[in-house]
Amino acid sequence: MSLNVQCVAPNGRKWTQPTGLFINNQWVKSSDGAKIASINPATAKEITSVYAGTEKDVDTAVKAARAALNDPSWRDLSGLDRGKMMNRLAQLIDDNKETLAVIETCDNGKPYLVSLNDDMTETAETIRYYSGFADKIFGQVIDTTTDKFAYTMRQPVGVCGQIIPWNFPLSMAAWKLGPALACGNAVVLKPAEQTPLSILFLANLIKEAGFPPGVVNIVNGHGAVAGAALASHMDVDKIAFTGSTATAKQIMKMASVNLKNITLETGGKSPLIVFDDADLEQAVEWAHIGIMYNQGQICTATSRILVHDKIYDRFVEAFKAQIKNVSKVGDPFDEETFQGPQVTQAQYERILSYVDVGTSEKATLTCGGKPFKGVGNGKGFFIEPTVFTDVSPKMRIYQEEVFGPFAVIARFKTEEEAVQMANDSEYGLGSALFTTNLTRAHRVAKRIEAGMVWINSSNDSDWRIPFGGVKQSGIGRELGEAGLDAYSSVKAVHVNMKSKL
Ligand code: NAI
Ligand code: MG
Repeated sequence: MSLNVQCVAPNGRKWTQPTGLFINNQWVKSSDGAKIASINPATAKEITSVYAGTEKDVDTAVKAARAALNDPSWRDLSGLDRGKMMNRLAQLIDDNKETLAVIETCDNGKPYLVSLNDDMTETAETIRYYSGFADKIFGQVIDTTTDKFAYTMRQPVGVCGQIIPWNFPLSMAAWKLGPALACGNAVVLKPAEQTPLSILFLANLIKEAGFPPGVVNIVNGHGAVAGAALASHMDVDKIAFTGSTATAKQIMKMASVNLKNITLETGGKSPLIVFDDADLEQAVEWAHIGIMYNQGQICTATSRILVHDKIYDRFVEAFKAQIKNVSKVGDPFDEETFQGPQVTQAQYERILSYVDVGTSEKATLTCGGKPFKGVGNGKGFFIEPTVFTDVSPKMRIYQEEVFGPFAVIARFKTEEEAVQMANDSEYGLGSALFTTNLTRAHRVAKRIEAGMVWINSSNDSDWRIPFGGVKQSGIGRELGEAGLDAYSSVKAVHVNMKSKL
């Protein structure tokens, strides 16, 4: 069955959109026929609707993945050949990047040039990077005594459930598929129900690249239905999740039913510290990118900006000027646009509700704080880039993740105070610091409670470098060589070399 609809983007580009569930390399309807509408957040109009998987559908997909794991066409495929398949997939992503970028922009709202140049590059390169690991996954020989020969092998974890967020739909799928496939696992992936379209398109490329049926299954669906079914399934060995800390806690509980292996990438309220010896212009540029990029919808967004008292006023003025000059809100297909709409009406309302919180907490609303209505049909979920100053650590806007173009700026007087303020958070994902003092840079980097530190930049992620958090920002690492640990398990083999005990 081919379940496709023809779609046309606002820029005129046409594509064939799969709408089914992708199980065993085939497109099927959901068992109850229910669908979810995918909305273009720039216009609030429906793009198309796609099938939403039920618990039963998830079970079918898990069975397909289990069968693939035990099928010689995948189980016995050499790492070299697995890598070649992945490399073909990376190439197919490159070949289809304009279409994929159009889909991503229609479904998610991010500017088209960002989809094309950033998200698609990251998606293809992540798969390509991990393709190179597929034939470099091996164990060790461990010397003990002459009576024993011992070695380890690295084996796939098994059936991996992967739950994807809506902020970087395709690249988050690639972060999870890359290491999972390199290590020889089978996958059931659930896109975020808000943004499934690009990942469904990717499914056809996975098939075209030659992956056997059942190795990658894609079941779109509601979190509380399909996501929960995956997290609580007794025959799923691992769950990898990116999304909110609240949902991660539920997933962890559900995953306990059969003691699943878990990796969680969750929320953040990442600090960006500007010391008084910083290159101010450089700090302002990165501080702006660090919170305003991707409509502020980034788990590592440096949303808490801490500035030394001596340069505070100059920084705030320059930051506002940067917003005015760079943060052009507009149609995501307009090449001048820096900031598109928020992904959904729910997110749009949530961000605006935090404007009320900040105001009632008596922080100073320095700019923005309102819907931006000057685009298209006026129905899109656009928000003016928003900055609160005079913010202090007790405030909710200092502590809670807003997930929008919403920065808070606070001041500090000493390095000690800056570190304390940076660490005054339940989260520990990213962090950034600006200084020209080399020893201070490394001293502070060591003390910050975070999985990642950017010195004199922000959110400068790279698929070759481990990504993840501490505290309530997550468990485990993705990307880099470290990402492989989450998708392989070590088996130890003891060989007795003695004839008698
Ligand atoms: P969410 O964490 O609920 O959704 C993320 C993924 O989890 C989606 O695929 C969703 O379908 C799935 N999911 C939801 N409930 C589930 C459940 N009970 N069992 C299994 N899977 C489930 O995030 P949501 O509600 O879309 O956004 C709310 C907030 O979460 C945002 O404002 C932001 O603060 C945070 N968030 C963080 C992300 C990150 O990159 N760390 C990405 C998306 C959201
Ligand atoms: Mg959408």
